[in-house]
Amino acid sequence: MTDDARWDHLLVDVGLATMRDDGAPYGAIGNAAIGWRDDRIVFAGPMADLPGAPHALAHHVASLPGTWVTPGLIDCHTHLVFGGDRAEEFELRLEGATYEEIARAGGGIVSSVRATRAAGEDELLRQSLPRAKALLADGVTTLEIKSGYGLEPEAERRMLRVARRLGEVLGVDVRTSFLGLHALPPEYAGRRDDYVALVCDIMLPSLADEELVDAVDAFCEGIGFTHAETQRLFDKATALGLPVKLHAEQLSDLGGAALVARYGGLSADHLEWTSPDAVRAMAAAGTVAVLLPGAYYALRDTRPPPVDAFREHGVAMAVATDLNPGTSPLLSLRLAMGMACTLFRLTPEEALRGATVNAARALGLTDRGTLAPGQRADLAVWNVRHLAELCYWIGGSLLRESWVAGERVVL
Ligand code: NIG
Ligand code: FE
Repeated sequence: MTDDARWDHLLVDVGLATMRDDGAPYGAIGNAAIGWRDDRIVFAGPMADLPGAPHALAHHVASLPGTWVTPGLIDCHTHLVFGGDRAEEFELRLEGATYEEIARAGGGIVSSVRATRAAGEDELLRQSLPRAKALLADGVTTLEIKSGYGLEPEAERRMLRVARRLGEVLGVDVRTSFLGLHALPPEYAGRRDDYVALVCDIMLPSLADEELVDAVDAFCEGIGFTHAETQRLFDKATALGLPVKLHAEQLSDLGGAALVARYGGLSADHLEWTSPDAVRAMAAAGTVAVLLPGAYYALRDTRPPPVDAFREHGVAMAVATDLNPGTSPLLSLRLAMGMACTLFRLTPEEALRGATVNAARALGLTDRGTLAPGQRADLAVWNVRHLAELCYWIGGSLLRESWVAGERVVL
């Protein structure tokens, strides 16, 4: 083999959780190797199938016995760009106030809006960077970040620019979602229609024009926006060629999951109150169910999403942190996976699918989420004996190293 034809990196003596659908749990291959060239995987299979001696195949070879390699984790639902925090609200909830009561009294999302509006772009980046780094330190290689704490054109724009800048600073892929319909800003009290019009007709087209929007999201809820308002936004997004997703049925059933399915949406997220009919609609549309156990945990929710129905109808389930200052200050996707097992009874394999291949689907990405030739070389190498350990350990640092598009992640 000529030098030019050699792969860049080859990891040998590892276990691979390919997450391919080949019948084996986790698509697992023991005593395996994975090699890549530039940003693409060229080999992911048993050591015995390597087409030559490792050092003849690749420039850099590492033997890592006792490790498992998974696709890099994908956090498909976060609100990690925001100003300030809501620790006081946490204390109020512990004293008995509910999330909805705090929101209706002018706290909740709106208090993060105040702090976010007050922060300049660099300050917002400074505050958000450690949160993104925490996710990466626990194996994340792609993450989604929503706007929704600006709720005015300039502040929403600033949030999305910070999301993009985080990706550049950290060398990872950040997918952005525009969440202008997150809460009604106080200055629009009594003028809901004007705010919805501002979001649909001014903010969305101009932010999309600046290529700051990969998808469009909304909070369809009693303390958020109605079915009809959400529909108006989705019509606009569809006209602009942007995919949609939705915070649906977290606190009540407003029919959001069926609505986003009707638009062929990427995902419906939360879903504690989702009805059987909506599950069927999601299955027919291929809309992913994104489970957010961090919010369920922090709000002491008692009604889990209908996981059995998702399984029965073949709805793909993803798991995400929902990292946000109010309902889910959760800085580890691996911990979200563990919570999905303990609180929602996912199997550890379902949880890992939920943070890899199904999370990629929830973002409309087909080039990552499994370990296979042709896929992006996004991988996480774990110091674990058994893959269930990824969900089993609560906290701790199991990550040995991670790679994004073939490059080693340095934090
Ligand atoms: O996904 N539900 C709406 N949005 C967030 C909460 C945001 C907040 O409270 O700041 C969520 O849970
Ligand atoms: Fe959320």
